[in-house]
Amino acid sequence: DVTTSITPAALGFTAVAKSLGDTVIVPEGYSISVLYRTGDPINAATPAYANDGSDTNFGARGGDHHDGMSFFGLAATGTTRDDNSSTRGVLVMNHENINQQYLHPNGPTTVGGARPEGEARKEIEAHGVAVIEVVRSSAGAWSYVQSGALNRRITPLTPTSFSGPVRGNALLRTVYSPTGVAGRGTINNCANGTMPWGTYLTCEENWAGYFRRDAADTALRTAKQNVAMTRYGLGVRTGNYGWATVNSSSADFAKFNITTNAAAPADGTGDYRNECNQLGWVVEIDPYDAAATPRKRTALGRMNHEGCWPGRRIAGVRPAFYMGDDAQNEYIYKFVSTQTWAAADATATDRLAIGDKYLDAGTLYVARFNADGTGTWVPLVFGQNGLTATNATYAFTDQADVLTHCRIASDIVGATKMDRPEWTAVNPATGEVYCTLTNNSSRTVAGTDAANPRAYTDPKTNGTSTSGNPNGHIIRLRETGDTTEATGFTWDIYAFGSGADLSAANINLSGLDATNDFSSPDGLWFGRATNPSGLVTPVMWLQTDDGAYTDVTNCMMLAAMPGSVGDGATRTITNTIGATSGTQTARAGRAPGTTLRRFLVGPKECEITGVDSTPDGRTLFVNIQHPGENGTPAAPSSNWPNSQTGTATGIRPRSATIAITKNDGGVVAL
Ligand code: FEO
Ligand code: CA
Ligand code: CA
Ligand code: CA
Repeated sequence: DVTTSITPAALGFTAVAKSLGDTVIVPEGYSISVLYRTGDPINAATPAYANDGSDTNFGARGGDHHDGMSFFGLAATGTTRDDNSSTRGVLVMNHENINQQYLHPNGPTTVGGARPEGEARKEIEAHGVAVIEVVRSSAGAWSYVQSGALNRRITPLTPTSFSGPVRGNALLRTVYSPTGVAGRGTINNCANGTMPWGTYLTCEENWAGYFRRDAADTALRTAKQNVAMTRYGLGVRTGNYGWATVNSSSADFAKFNITTNAAAPADGTGDYRNECNQLGWVVEIDPYDAAATPRKRTALGRMNHEGCWPGRRIAGVRPAFYMGDDAQNEYIYKFVSTQTWAAADATATDRLAIGDKYLDAGTLYVARFNADGTGTWVPLVFGQNGLTATNATYAFTDQADVLTHCRIASDIVGATKMDRPEWTAVNPATGEVYCTLTNNSSRTVAGTDAANPRAYTDPKTNGTSTSGNPNGHIIRLRETGDTTEATGFTWDIYAFGSGADLSAANINLSGLDATNDFSSPDGLWFGRATNPSGLVTPVMWLQTDDGAYTDVTNCMMLAAMPGSVGDGATRTITNTIGATSGTQTARAGRAPGTTLRRFLVGPKECEITGVDSTPDGRTLFVNIQHPGENGTPAAPSSNWPNSQTGTATGIRPRSATIAITKNDGGVVAL
């Protein structure tokens, strides 16, 4: 996969303007088509989606909140993998969450304090992952294939297996799996990884919120368990959407209640007290085998996982996989395999066995960023760096305990607390690693550091204001010796988010203008396109999930030719919130000028998240997540995608995948 030459290409489109409208806007000379929507049937037996709240059986329909996504090529017929196909394949994507109100005729109901079983089941099944066959016609039109042989929904109820160091550990024992080797389902899947051996990684992000935990549970846990649960946000609560209130004998709902049953065995095999340890992992899915059980890769640690992207592969070198933990003041991680890369593994047919080889044994590291522009990958290994059975903060039992509670381990080893690490991406030309730090309202002036250097107040045009690091930034690092095995790196900041309307010199540090100003970077991906001379053209795609700029524009996607670590200026900035001021060093944040350009703006109340292309780079797939998320069934606040063709009023919005092509058939963005 290693390319040593960078084509001196330039972005070849005219930037689109910011928009508050209800359509997807792309540059002149480009077209979009809507490919796969929430509710679309994915087998022949399922009827068309009525989109009025009456539909059922989301296990055979498109889920909600389309998110991270990868394209896997297929041969012209059948289910054979073909990495060179740009006309037929499967899209594998996350369905992160739901717009609950639109799934029912008049929104969700509760009867006698309990959620109706049918409503809860629908909501559960609308979460998870989908594998969907897509095909391009000879005329160039993309469509999804309703009866595709590989079509599949993986939901919070689908059987999974555990692999790696935590498999079989006491922490995973439940009534469902007394031996701690199996689990049920995946939830709040956010961002992804495309593995070179042809599998999809999905990442479990805000899983903690779905659990019910009654007040009585605290006294039924050990002190150590309470420390761990607090650190993972597993406080006392009823749980998202109230699924654990359903009156049913089915374990489908019982598993969302992690309250300890005092009458059950103390080892957790008789209740769901350990169900919370079954989530928070990276999960590997084989898109070419609809019967394959998804595998949870415990060696990669348990957190609010957001993305898991492979570094460059070099034969004979141990590969690395880069990950963010998306919560305020959490960390950036990498996992380095024990095994060195063998190129033949990329085309092996037992794909999950290759996953076993590279993802089950290795070292999990957490990042420490130093003020001088260097950094250290600190290993999270039981027995090292204070991660011992005698640690006063948390007495670790073994490596499985370290991995299941790697947030606590990272606290102990002194990792750098970041402004919400979202996606990671790797520049295929240089191997440099980028990570979006979306925003952090809890960053204080005194709490800034060189890697998270901003704390200020963003005045909003709608009269509100938001403080901390409201617009986020994108950090990047270069491994020492350009090897994925490195334990050190250099780093800088590629760009600081800011509205171009924020004129203060200490806020719009990257000099963004009307063609490229953005806030809250989130989705991040380097294009896989090759240009006509066969060289990788490293276009970086950047997507936003914006809490701080939606008074001015809907969320967007930009394209960049981002340069390299160290190509910007280092300067001292002044941070101010209210009466508190301080200075911090801002490493880089150069003016990207025309090398960063807005390519797409989405419809109302959406997030843009999830992107991949065909291998030829001539079709770009993008996900539009939760348009109209603040509306009601009676008064939807967006009518997208129907609004795209101008025919909608009052129609409920749907998340959807779109296909973007250049009208002249060229490579998108160039
Ligand atoms: Fe689901 Fe952190 O985005
Ligand atoms: Ca995200
Ligand atoms: Ca986000
Ligand atoms: Ca979202």
